[in-house]
Amino acid sequence: MTTTSQHKIGTGFGATSTAAEVLAGIDLTGKLALVTGGYSGIGIETTRALVDAGARVIVPARRRATAEQALAGIDNVEIDELDLGDLDSVRAFAERFVAGGRRLDLVINNAGIMACPETRIGDGWEAQFATNHLGHFALVNRLWPAIAEGARVVALSSRGHFFSPVRWDDLQFERGYDKWQAYGQAKSANVLFAVKLDELGAAKNVHAFAVHPGGIWTPLQRHLSKDEMVQRGWIDEAGNQLVKFKTPEQGAATAVFAATSPQLDGMGGVYLEDCDVAESVPSDADPATTWGGVKAYALDPEQADRLWTLSAELTGVNAFA
Ligand SMILES: NC(=O)c1ccc[n+]([C@@H]2O[C@H](COP(=O)([O-])OP(=O)(O)OC[C@H]3O[C@@H](n4cnc5c(N)ncnc54)[C@H](OP(=O)(O)O)[C@@H]3O)[C@@H](O)[C@H]2O)c1
Repeated sequence: MTTTSQHKIGTGFGATSTAAEVLAGIDLTGKLALVTGGYSGIGIETTRALVDAGARVIVPARRRATAEQALAGIDNVEIDELDLGDLDSVRAFAERFVAGGRRLDLVINNAGIMACPETRIGDGWEAQFATNHLGHFALVNRLWPAIAEGARVVALSSRGHFFSPVRWDDLQFERGYDKWQAYGQAKSANVLFAVKLDELGAAKNVHAFAVHPGGIWTPLQRHLSKDEMVQRGWIDEAGNQLVKFKTPEQGAATAVFAATSPQLDGMGGVYLEDCDVAESVPSDADPATTWGGVKAYALDPEQADRLWTLSAELTGVNAFA
């Protein structure tokens, strides 16, 4: 059950706000944060903004050397190893962290892949669902003993959730693969995860949010050909951008807002965009004409519950069983 109504609250921030702007006046000294993928694109700006506000940030990385290079010169960052597509790696990272005895105040499930060619990982799982959702599901459940009372967990979703609800009849695309439906399903799963975690976390006063960061030019687009980006109207034949993307600093703002803003105290289980709670739109809203909001299927408490149970079965982890 969502604990907060899915309506704008009028935060005073918007699409062009940056992570530094939403953190103005917020002191994170003494706070410990974890940002998956916190060394690329939106993630690195999230890490930088949290550190600038005083937090210490753990960045678990699939490519440690790349992370070390990207984050060189940013103080108060610790890099560790984590591949979200490998549940043994998730377990090993979480065990190392929990054994250290520290408590996490902010967890930002930022890492992700988008529209990759059909790839199977784990037990033959579709890679976008497995990496973007199941890996983070296992991570948060394994880290649960180390997640502090009153902590916030933020799941990076996307407007891409418009492309597909969770496909209960063919979760792993065994009947034919579509890279955008697979991204859409994974990003719907990210919202449903936040809805259910917010309910389960109540006993520890932990709140969870899902966010759409906006459209930001990052390495996330690595699997798209130039032709596809031209077809989608993002760039012209010469490679000039036709759509106004957010900067990475603006792209990090909504996740940072969700993780830290006192304006969200006591709220949770909702989807944010442009640094505010988004409006809910019908499940059949047309993506060609509906620019914002969160589809009702991604907020459905029954689907959130079903997805949690299924994810626990698939990963073999459930901190709340
Ligand atoms: N950019 C956008 O326009 C946009 C729009 C909506 C939503 N989002 C969401 O925002 C989040 C961040 O995206 P971004 O644009 O910043 O992308 P990005 O620059 O490609 O960063 C993604 C990060 O995730 C990491 N990652 C990928 N697979 C991983 C795995 N198996 N294990 C551990 N880490 C892994 C990547 O590590 P490597 O570099 O080592 O691969 C990278 O650090 C994603 O969840 C994305 O879906 C982005």
